[in-house]
This record gives sequence, structure tokens and C-alpha cells, in this order.
Amino acid sequence: MVHACDCPHLLGPLDEAVVEEGRIRCPWHGYEFELRNGARVDGRGLRLGSAPQLLVDPLFNRVRLRENTFRFKYLEV
Ligand code: FES
Repeated sequence: MVHACDCPHLLGPLDEAVVEEGRIRCPWHGYEFELRNGARVDGRGLRLGSAPQLLVDPLFNRVRLRENTFRFKYLEV
């Protein structure tokens, strides 16, 4: 399973998080999420975001990295 690298709480760096027994723990405030489904371990509302998507734009000869529905980056190719 692949998820976003930003914590859904306050965008903590999940790429720096500890992964143990199928769970990932955010280093900022300690929220834990199940890797198999993205749900928060304590059952509260937040979920891990979807994985980033790479979108190729042949018209402008560039690749767009969409990290979630609100943010994206352009990459030089
Ligand atoms: S930013 Fe991840 S738990 Fe708060």
C-alpha cells in the first residue's frame, strides 16, 4: 500500500516516521495509522492521503507531481 508523505493531522513528515507492525507513527504528534487501509489506529476520523500521482504533460514537455487534491509540484524533465 502506498500513501502520501504528509500526515493528515498538520502535515507532519511521514517520510521520517517509524513503521512498526503495519502501522506508521507521525513524528510530530504521535498519531498512528494502519498502512493497510490508511485509517487512524484509534478509530478517529483522519486517514492517510492517497499516494502521489505523476502526470505527463506532453504539450509543455513536463511532468507534474500531484501529491493530493490541494498541492502539486512541477518537475523539470
Ligand atoms: S502532524 Fe502528524 S500527528 Fe500531528
